[in-house]
Amino acid sequence: MKTFVYADYDQLSRAAATLVTDTVRSNPHALLCIATGDTPAGMMNYLTEDVRSGVVDFSKVSFVSLDEWVGLNQQDEGSCRHFFYQHLVYPLNLNAEQVAFFDGRADDAEHECARIDQYITGKGGIELMIVGIGMNGHIGMNEPGLAVANSSHIVNLDEVTITVGQKYFREKTPLRRGITLGIGQILESKKAILMASGRKKAEIVARAATGPVTTQVPASFLQQHHDAYMLLDADAASSLDYTIA
Ligand code: PGA
Repeated sequence: MKTFVYADYDQLSRAAATLVTDTVRSNPHALLCIATGDTPAGMMNYLTEDVRSGVVDFSKVSFVSLDEWVGLNQQDEGSCRHFFYQHLVYPLNLNAEQVAFFDGRADDAEHECARIDQYITGKGGIELMIVGIGMNGHIGMNEPGLAVANSSHIVNLDEVTITVGQKYFREKTPLRRGITLGIGQILESKKAILMASGRKKAEIVARAATGPVTTQVPASFLQQHHDAYMLLDADAASSLDYTIA
C-alpha cells in the first residue's frame, strides 16, 4: 500500500477527486464504490465541480454502495444513501439507474445482499473503491474482531460505530446493525483508496498502515490489496514518517 500525505484536507480532497476523474476518463463505464461520511465530502464537492466544468463525464459511470444502516434508506436523513444523493447524485443529476444502493429498510436483507453482489459481478467488478476509516479501524461497516467476509452481509455494529454514527443524525438514533460489502470485495476492487483526515484518526491510520494485518483493525487488510493507496492529510499522518506529496 502506498501512502500519500497532503498538507491539509482541501488538498487531500482535490487529490482524491483527481484519482477518480483519471479513472473515469480512462474507463467511462467504470463501476465506482465511494464511501459516504465526513472524509469524502470535500472530494465529492470537487467531483461535482469537475463534472460541471467538463473535466470529466459521469454519464456512463455506475456507482454501488459500500454500506448502509439497517432500518434506514434514502428517506432517512443520516442514511448513507441520503448522503450520497445529496452530495453526488442530485448535484450531478445522475440517473437513478446509475446507482445501486443497499436498501436498509428491505424486508429481506439477505436478498438485498445478494442483489448488490450480483450487481457488482454483472458490471465486471469494482474499478475504484474509496473508503474512509472508522475510529475503530473499520472499513465500510466491517467491524473489528469479525471474520473476513467475501460478500455483502449484515453485521452487528461496534459500540464505537454506534456512538460516532450519531453525528449524521439530528436526533439520537438507535443504530444496531449495518449492511456492508465484505472485506473480500474491497480487496477484489481493481484499485482501492483509503482517505483519512484529522489528528483523531492518526493512531488508527498508523495501525492500519504499518501494524499487523488483523481483524482487530479491518482497514489493515488493505495492505494485502495489489493496488491500494492511503491518502492522508498531515494531521491524519502525524503518527507516521512521511513527506508531503
Ligand atoms: P468519517 O467516517 O469519514 O465520517 O470519519 C469514516 C468511517 O466511519 O468509515
